[in-house]
Amino acid sequence: MGLSEEIKRRRTFAIISHPDAGKTTLTEKLLLFGGAIHIAGAVKSNKIKKTATSDWMEIEKQRGISVATSVMAFDYNGFKINILDTPGHQDFQEDTFRTLTAVDSVIIVVDCAKGVEAQTRKLMNVCRMRNTPVIVFVNKMDRNGNNAFDLMDELEKELNIRVRPLSWPINQGDKFKGVYNIYERKLNLYTPNKQIITENIEFKDINSPELEKHIPEEDAQQLRDDLELIDGVYPELDINEYLAGQVAPVFFGSALNNFGVKELLDCFCQIAPTPQPTQTVEREVKPEEENFSGFVFKIHANMDPNHRSCIAFVKVCSGKFERNVNYKHVRHNKMLKFSAPTCFMAQKKETVDEAWPGDIVGLPDSGGTFKIGDTLSSGEDIHFKGLPSFSPEMFKYIENDDPMKAKQLAKGIEQLMDEGVAQVFTNQFNGRKIIGTVGQLQFEVIQYRLLHEYNAKCRWEPINLYKACWIESDDAEALENFKKRKYQFMAKDKEGRDVFLADSGYILQMAQTDFPKIRFHFSSEF
Ligand code: G4P
Repeated sequence: MGLSEEIKRRRTFAIISHPDAGKTTLTEKLLLFGGAIHIAGAVKSNKIKKTATSDWMEIEKQRGISVATSVMAFDYNGFKINILDTPGHQDFQEDTFRTLTAVDSVIIVVDCAKGVEAQTRKLMNVCRMRNTPVIVFVNKMDRNGNNAFDLMDELEKELNIRVRPLSWPINQGDKFKGVYNIYERKLNLYTPNKQIITENIEFKDINSPELEKHIPEEDAQQLRDDLELIDGVYPELDINEYLAGQVAPVFFGSALNNFGVKELLDCFCQIAPTPQPTQTVEREVKPEEENFSGFVFKIHANMDPNHRSCIAFVKVCSGKFERNVNYKHVRHNKMLKFSAPTCFMAQKKETVDEAWPGDIVGLPDSGGTFKIGDTLSSGEDIHFKGLPSFSPEMFKYIENDDPMKAKQLAKGIEQLMDEGVAQVFTNQFNGRKIIGTVGQLQFEVIQYRLLHEYNAKCRWEPINLYKACWIESDDAEALENFKKRKYQFMAKDKEGRDVFLADSGYILQMAQTDFPKIRFHFSSEF
């Protein structure tokens, strides 16, 4: 198969949800359809349980399996599906944000009883930044939940996107009878069985009295009324609007019962985007280009203290990637070849000889060769963009607790930040380093890893900060003036960009009012 055929058959996406909505269960069912696994329960949950007292070693154990579940690839009906997993725990949200830069579309799982929850809303905002096409799967229809029309309204309002149902539930909870597949005009009856894949019944004319032979009279009538209302309220799905991220098709089902999942997958294969062009600082890179290019969106370190090694996850953006071929590490201006690149077929990690646009390859890295955002190319000097850092939510000074190990500490901090574990800011006033994270857990992770991987001891000291804002201005003098006035609160991020550290919402608001020529950004890419 040539480059264009390989591109056409690829679908690279992520499943996102608030914890417990059913992401792991849905992933597993998709893998079952792909024949990648054969029994339910084979996929170990990659989610890190969200109890406040999360035991850090427990997290490590879970992280151990997460390399295998980071990318799950399988073939289905001639399509090559790449599912990129995202950590469920909100303290690792940055990781999820970065993974979203490597996908071409997203499936959002929503619990029918809980509706749109906080984390889903946040993740949707990230999708919106890149106009990523999204499909919504409303899960747990075997449980009593909200009315389907109310859910539609909620999705539209909370996710801030127009919706179009492509399947519709027939009753709910213990009275749940199934869904009508609007997209294919088929009736799909529910049998609560976790293994059997339900067959569809072709049902073009919903007004036919045949319907009552399959479902009770009231349900049949309700379905007819609902479908009439849907046609009246929601315009036909325009695939281009979906691809532009303007409208989200919605499916209903129950992942646990393997219900509605095949419909989702079949439709997804038909309408979801193939690998899309990627923006670099210099130009747009198209997947069809002959020359290979790709970028690192995730680095996963192994936790063995005797053998520090990482896997850099590279998304192939154009051309064909080949084993043992020299590629340019643009930041280092160095040619490198890889003798053991890996791909991830469901549960297994295997050495690959080639990979195509949309695929993810894992490159073993023992010496801190890669950092997040690095570009590999066939030789061209391009720099992929779109891996922004977001303002952290928590801040602490990091201090050296063993004066003999200052070098180790500095190296450890640098490498952990390159891996994207957290962000470091250097205060311009006192030179102290501040670590910014999304959650408390990351401080524990950093302290532990510095000690075990770098033999460096650190301690945390409190600092009262509200937000880190990247600042810019068209007026160089105004910018200088601002930096002078706020010199105690100015810092540099690890790329040397100016960051204003606001200690309260009020202070930030005042700064915005007092310095109208300065633009304040809450992510590093603007
Ligand atoms: P997550 O990855 O989004 O965090 O969710 P996960 O798939 O782990 O699902 C969370 C819980 O919801 C699990 O139960 C799972 O069995 C259940 N679940 C998923 N889909 C459905 C569904 O369609 N219907 C119903 N009724 N439940 C569903 P758990 O008790 O937390 O875990 P487990 O012990 O079953 O693994």
